Amino acid sequence: GQGPEPVSEAAGDRGVLIDRIGTLVTNDPALGEGSLGLVRDAALVLDGGVVAWAGPRSRVPEGAADERVDAGGRAVLPGFVDSHGHLVFAGDRTAEFAARMSGRPYTAGGIRTTVAATRAAPRDELDRTTAALVAEARRSGTTTIECKSGYGLTVADERRSLEVAAEHTAEVTFLGAHVVPPEYADRPDDYVDLVCSAMLDACAPVARWIDVFCDRGAFDGDQTRAVLRAGAARGLLPRVHANQLGPGPGVQIAVEVDAASADHVTHVTDDDVEALASSRTVATLLPGAEFSTRAGYPDARRLIDAGVPVALAADCNPGSSYTTNMPFCIAVAVRDMRMTPDEAVWAATLGGARALRRDDVGHLGVGARADVVLLDAPSHVHLSYRPGVPLVTGVWQAGRQVVG
Ligand code: NIG
Ligand code: FE
Repeated sequence: GQGPEPVSEAAGDRGVLIDRIGTLVTNDPALGEGSLGLVRDAALVLDGGVVAWAGPRSRVPEGAADERVDAGGRAVLPGFVDSHGHLVFAGDRTAEFAARMSGRPYTAGGIRTTVAATRAAPRDELDRTTAALVAEARRSGTTTIECKSGYGLTVADERRSLEVAAEHTAEVTFLGAHVVPPEYADRPDDYVDLVCSAMLDACAPVARWIDVFCDRGAFDGDQTRAVLRAGAARGLLPRVHANQLGPGPGVQIAVEVDAASADHVTHVTDDDVEALASSRTVATLLPGAEFSTRAGYPDARRLIDAGVPVALAADCNPGSSYTTNMPFCIAVAVRDMRMTPDEAVWAATLGGARALRRDDVGHLGVGARADVVLLDAPSHVHLSYRPGVPLVTGVWQAGRQVVG
């Protein structure tokens, strides 16, 4: 596996002062108020691709930057860290979605529709569609995105998906154990063996993470453990799709293997919650999936009150959550998962960074990567207060302005 990308020397080489910020979310309690480290009437200096200074504008160092951006009293926050995405796929599942909205339940089986389309797609099509989704995510403020394979499910098709993902992010996840592909339908354990041997040999060099869909209609506890163990033996770090469609062993296994994150975490027992609370595994909640499958939402309040760190991610995929929009996820999490507006913003930024075991993103302390979002609103609370409104008006990635 490979680590996170270093900040490019060329990125953001010109210092930028973002001045007259109404509310600055730093996520650094040493810099401001509360766990969001809020600073009112603030300024932020980006230099050399990182944050060079953050604080009240009355104290901004003289001559700190060559360029000045006037935020005009609007809000600035860290770029969103979307720690869960399935962006490499072909085709769509419009008909399946429409059928679901007239009463058909969601099952993992729909994944096979996308597997067939992805296998049939030429490489340049996958490059284009993935790039388009990454650009779409960036326009709504996402500056770090995780991207999984999982719609190839052959040695060559999984490797190809990971290569496409690696063009866009260092957070590349091998998800060969997404579902059992049709050609292995009557011998699932042979497919698990393939994932654990030849497929991992081909895929581990291009990935940082290994993930398994441990759920009804996908992989059971023993299969999940086998795949995560084989991935670890090749240097991949574990994360788990756990307890989305029903109760099961996914969360417990994630904790057992010290996974960076257990994702979905929708159907959990008190034991699952306790296990998470006494671990360093983040619970990554994916409101887009419950929204688009018309399922019950995970109870974020229960997790947070038990002391579990919570992240929010978009889970962009053509089956269960065809959105890249983190502000949408924040709004749903606040409305329907009993999160406060502040908790949801933390979960979509620093929570995501924790779920990816990254300390350079998700906050705006000095030395952090200069990934910054400017909202056309006076505070970060507007992300949930004004649902569906495109408030993201400026985005900087490693100090370079990419939106606005
Ligand atoms: O995270 N849960 C497994 N994988 C995706 C769904 C994939 C699909 O339906 O194509 C998810 O929701
Ligand atoms: Fe997923």
